[in-house]
Amino acid sequence: MRIKLPRTRARLAGPGTRLYADPKPSPDETSFQIDNTSAQYYNSPYYLAHKDQVQPFPAPRSGVPAYLDLQDFVPTEVLDAINTTGRITFHAVGDTGAAKGVPATAIANEAGVADAMAADVQSGGVTGPAFFFHLGDVIYNFGEAQYYYDQFYEPFRDYDRPIFAIPGNHDGMLFGATSATPQVQTLEAFLRNFCADAPGPSPDSGGLVRTVMTQPGVYFTLDAPYVSIIGLYSNVLDSGAGVISSQGGKFPVVGNAQLAFLQSELKRLKPDRQAGKRAIIIAVHHPPASVDAKHGGSVGVEKDLDTCCQAAGLWPDVVLSGHAHLYQRFTRVVNGKQTPYIVSGSGGFAATAPQGATPKAPYTIGDTTLEVDPIVEFGYLTITTDAKTLSITFKTASNGTVTVRDSVNVDLTQAQIVSGTHAPSGGGNKPKPAPPKKGTKK
Ligand SMILES: [Fe+2]
Repeated sequence: MRIKLPRTRARLAGPGTRLYADPKPSPDETSFQIDNTSAQYYNSPYYLAHKDQVQPFPAPRSGVPAYLDLQDFVPTEVLDAINTTGRITFHAVGDTGAAKGVPATAIANEAGVADAMAADVQSGGVTGPAFFFHLGDVIYNFGEAQYYYDQFYEPFRDYDRPIFAIPGNHDGMLFGATSATPQVQTLEAFLRNFCADAPGPSPDSGGLVRTVMTQPGVYFTLDAPYVSIIGLYSNVLDSGAGVISSQGGKFPVVGNAQLAFLQSELKRLKPDRQAGKRAIIIAVHHPPASVDAKHGGSVGVEKDLDTCCQAAGLWPDVVLSGHAHLYQRFTRVVNGKQTPYIVSGSGGFAATAPQGATPKAPYTIGDTTLEVDPIVEFGYLTITTDAKTLSITFKTASNGTVTVRDSVNVDLTQAQIVSGTHAPSGGGNKPKPAPPKKGTKK
């Protein structure tokens, strides 16, 4: 069913005068307003001295809940359409920043994805994607405020929906002229653009209208109809693994506040999940499992997630990550529950080929199976759920061509994957069998 936007809402206006898309979007830019020179910061004394260290990060804003409600960000006609159709659709992808290599190519890579996502929103109307949940690494290479226009506000200037985000390592990485003091504090620009005290214009948007977001902090939950997304911050290590806790004292500056948050949120959401009212998704930038060349999986993150889920008695229906600049789909089987672990760091920055020695899919390590061969192209996720079923589709987007390359469907009532399709070269989807039940090994 297609419900058309009222004429007066040619552009969305959320509660509290929140605005998302520019009224008259200009054509894609062909050169950066500010040439990205931050690669030189990789050689700065502060980065070289601290690149293998995690960083402390600000506590959530005080006096606000740890969770957001989508109804505070979109107008009633969008919520009414979601409730009328009984399902919600949204986008997710990470690593969108355009910065590396020839500027025109970098811009085209990111714009190809952003424009396809915006087209989904425009063609879908109020029953199309309701928001974009960014999986981190919004700005390369060091999260600088000066690049928010070229890498975020300009590419998504026509994306007429709210964009929530967890930060990636690049959003929090630090540089500086001395080894003692960074030039800016970690996450400074991310906090200003995504964790503001109140909605309003961004000083980093170059005049584009997108309202800053009011997330409680770098970790938070987004409650929407039929789904909640628990977003975590996995710190600043680049080639290293993600870190969301002290890991038993190994990373004391990180602390264990996120574990308490995660466990508390799982317990809060457990009644709704058990009643079949909402799916539960965990989003964390560094993937618990990955086979790409540069970024491996994060064993510590997976262990932390497991500990919290075990304690809360609730396991996620999907785990979403970025960081690795490709698409990967795993299935993890825990206590008979089949859970997609999706890596989609394919938003526009430097597609990275998988490890050369990696066997062809399906490939099982322990309880986790790589279901399809990684797709090393730019693209994004579209997720739809009615709290009983959930589908995830990965589309590539390049030069104006959008192609469905992989999809998976989950029966949430049975915690089983019921079907998946994969198109290795962009055409002729062929069915893939459901993953093995618990106890069977490939
Ligand atoms: Fe990353």
